[in-house]
Amino acid sequence: MPIHLQETRRRRTFAIVSHPDAGKTTLTEKLLLFGGAIQMAGSVKSRKTSRSATSDWMALEKERGISVTSSVMQFPYEGKIVNLLDTPGHADFSEDTYRVLTAVDSALMVIDCAKGVEERTIKLMEVCRLRDTPIMTFINKLDREGRSPIELLDEVESVLGIACAPLTWPIGMGKRLKGVYHLALDEVHIFEPGKNFTRQDSTIFKGLDAPGLEEAIGVEAMRELREELELVQGAAPSFDIGEYLAGRQTPVFFGSAVNNFGVQLLLDFFVENAPSPQPRDTTTRAIEPEEEKLSGFVFKIQANMDPAHRDRVAFMRVCSGTYKAGMKMVQTRTGKEVRIANALTFMASDREIVETAYPGDVIGLHNHGTITIGDTFTEGEPVSFTGIPNFAPELFRRAQLRDPLKMKALQKGLAQLSEEGATQFFRPLMSNDLILGAVGVLQFEVVAYRLKDEYNVDATFEPVTVSTARWVHCDDEKKLEEFREKNAMNLAIDGAGELVYIAPTRVNLQLAQERWPQVRFANTREHA
Ligand code: G4P
Repeated sequence: MPIHLQETRRRRTFAIVSHPDAGKTTLTEKLLLFGGAIQMAGSVKSRKTSRSATSDWMALEKERGISVTSSVMQFPYEGKIVNLLDTPGHADFSEDTYRVLTAVDSALMVIDCAKGVEERTIKLMEVCRLRDTPIMTFINKLDREGRSPIELLDEVESVLGIACAPLTWPIGMGKRLKGVYHLALDEVHIFEPGKNFTRQDSTIFKGLDAPGLEEAIGVEAMRELREELELVQGAAPSFDIGEYLAGRQTPVFFGSAVNNFGVQLLLDFFVENAPSPQPRDTTTRAIEPEEEKLSGFVFKIQANMDPAHRDRVAFMRVCSGTYKAGMKMVQTRTGKEVRIANALTFMASDREIVETAYPGDVIGLHNHGTITIGDTFTEGEPVSFTGIPNFAPELFRRAQLRDPLKMKALQKGLAQLSEEGATQFFRPLMSNDLILGAVGVLQFEVVAYRLKDEYNVDATFEPVTVSTARWVHCDDEKKLEEFREKNAMNLAIDGAGELVYIAPTRVNLQLAQERWPQVRFANTREHA
């Protein structure tokens, strides 16, 4: 098999979705440990509180202990190459998370066994739904008292609308946790705090009748397990790879990330069954990963990853072909040809120059403001990948300058920060206001901080009477012109030059929609 095909097929590119505190960081760290990408427990965790070059680039982030930006971690496991795309934990940066989800082939959902399905998990699942992204589930914190496993599966099914196929089943919980039973392998893995890091380091019984098992977990636990399994095997579907790949069924694992427990079982199953890079739609055709010509799209731009260099890095997901250092690529939005010699790859805590990259990989392109989110790169074919959305912001502020002479710098800063997706930026047709839109209020703080830090502009943001925004489209040019004239007061141009209706109230938007049935009011804008 040609190398390109081999490499493509062994890629597994995914992201972890969860509600804050469910254990995403802990699980990430354990996965990296299994992959040999980090040596020590605690390395990922420390990102949350201390400043490190790759992840925490900003003092604001440090103060709040949140990860504003996401990074990419690659590690080998069992002959496969795993690309784990990190997502910001804080809800205020959910736009960033949504876009990361456009660059993965599957997702892993982490649920806290005491809390069940939480609000942010629901939102993120909705996003996965948009592309029928296959999802695996890890129910975490078994070492604590939680809800009954059957109840948890019921909740996932009813709230998230996805069938659950349990692959492992817990034996007890909290203080009574004895282990898990692997339904597909017919193995009992005993919970031994401080051990369980690898199979060699674990006590495993083959089958429920294995000698010594009953002594190990106790007669009572054994009886309970048999009863529950009878119920589960009767009621729950068994794993069906087709249903999983279609996004209709999620295989479920139980464990305790902080204790390493159940994590390797999950990872083994993941590399075996999670999808390799999938075809992606463009404006003209679907591009298959096996195609020989390089293509990819930018789903994220991150500033100041290395404060010493003040650079900005555009993260490109490779969708087809092979990237080779020094090759030429065309940025299809501008038609410009660029030679890329120093793209970066990301290995947990380090970044280095990448020589070759294959579909599913993410490479970092140095960016001096010419690359924007959603940009497609190819070897010349004039296509653009679709489906990388901008979401209608829900919060709006008017930028005010302390020093009016800094107007130019402010405009430049806002334009660049909106290209990065840090905020959205609207210029009303009828005034000189600069209006910012965001999904979460912390985004404004980040923007204010970065305007000062990177553009030397002191800006404040004050309330403005805009309650929601919609991108407007109309196939009838004359109608659109009429709409523009009549509604100029409520129209603005966004950072990408698109026409947007900025509604002072929801009722106003509703009236406008009723009055102008020919005009479409979209609540997302796809990056062109
Ligand atoms: P997040 O990234 O999803 O926000 O979650 P994170 O991994 O930071 O985990 C949130 C808290 O849950 C952490 O505790 C972490 O140690 C704990 N945790 C993760 N996995 C397990 C588990 O399997 N069992 C139990 N009992 N706890 C778990 P913390 O108190 O916030 O931080 P720390 O001081 O313990 O590190």
